Amino acid sequence: ANPSLLILAGDGIGPEVMAEVKKIITWMGDKRGLPFDVTEDLVGGAAYDAHGTPLTDATLAKAQEVDAVLLGAVGGPKYDVLDFSVKPERGLLRLRKEMDLFSNLRPAQCFDALADFSSLKRDVVAGLDIMIVRELTSGVYFGEPRGIFKEGNERVGINTQRYTESEIARVARSAFELARRRNNKVCSMEKANVMESGILWRDVVTEVHQKDYQDVELSHMYADAGAMQLCRWPKQFDVIVTDNLFGDLLSDAAAMLTGSLGMLPSASLGAPMANGRPKAMYEPVHGSAPDIAGQGKANPIACILSFAMALRYSFDLGDEATRVESAVEKVLADGVRTADLLGPEGGSPISTSAMGDAILAALDAS
Ligand code: NAI
Ligand code: MG
Repeated sequence: ANPSLLILAGDGIGPEVMAEVKKIITWMGDKRGLPFDVTEDLVGGAAYDAHGTPLTDATLAKAQEVDAVLLGAVGGPKYDVLDFSVKPERGLLRLRKEMDLFSNLRPAQCFDALADFSSLKRDVVAGLDIMIVRELTSGVYFGEPRGIFKEGNERVGINTQRYTESEIARVARSAFELARRRNNKVCSMEKANVMESGILWRDVVTEVHQKDYQDVELSHMYADAGAMQLCRWPKQFDVIVTDNLFGDLLSDAAAMLTGSLGMLPSASLGAPMANGRPKAMYEPVHGSAPDIAGQGKANPIACILSFAMALRYSFDLGDEATRVESAVEKVLADGVRTADLLGPEGGSPISTSAMGDAILAALDAS
């Protein structure tokens, strides 16, 4: 059977950027002999409009069955008034939770042509290619007790950082597996100097490494020092593995080393399915961008690079993923730009679909 994909384009610019990914999926079938079975469905506001819920049980069931889910973006001002329980974002959160996608891969990759876009010096970022693996389903965002309580005559806000050994071990494994496909190097970040969960984190990562991954180079760093090193000399890292809270901060900071939100892909992986592939959802980091939706201005590259991650991590088509990434690099080197990739001095931006077509032309020439 062909590999299967569920496309959930969502709201705002989601369907616009996904249209460009669909062109590439078709190209893969026609020109590379790699056909995918694609199903499409609704998520977020679009699902709410049709069904009164941002994710139906039927859509969730499909997501659990396919080899990989590709998601565009959800949300928009039209839905801001809705009750929290049916907000578009809830559709996304439910997908992540029900699929138990505990390992969030956020690459920070700086294409040479965009190095001047970074807030750091060209030397520091040009050619940067690192990956932050963030634990996504546990830690301080989920731990109990949590809440705002009365204590004497004042209130106290409580969150609990809580990690079990198995939660740490599974995300550590996912980082080591990833490192084997890259440069065999992992840096684990926590704060074992001041946090019990950090001590356990360091212990368990070390145990998993000793047991099964001694071929991978492992180092440890306190997360605050790690933040500093990420800004000072990010190229010293390859794979960074860290918890939910530190990963949230470090991945946002690392992402901005590289320029526009319109360039950033992500993957969220879970446990292996019966066919050995991990449960997986791929999506751009950006949202539905209501300020530019419907105008053909959105940059489709983040979504296209998310599909490239699917090729690599769900379908073992690393060469095809590299082919797509190289086509993106070529187009950028040729000076092709959507509006978000132009500096204050301006220039002439091309449309979402023209960017998709330029990438297709580069693929054809590859
Ligand atoms: P956003 O990422 O949608 O937009 C932030 C800024 O970046 C905007 O100025 C936008 O035009 C620009 N931008 C984003 N993606 C772009 C692209 N591909 N090409 C060119 N420019 C791009 O974040 P914002 O404005 O905070 O949220 C808008 C809506 O999206 C909200 O409803 C929010 O809840 C939702 N959202 C959804 C996410 C998701 O589906 N994973 C993630 C973040 C926000
Ligand atoms: Mg964040």
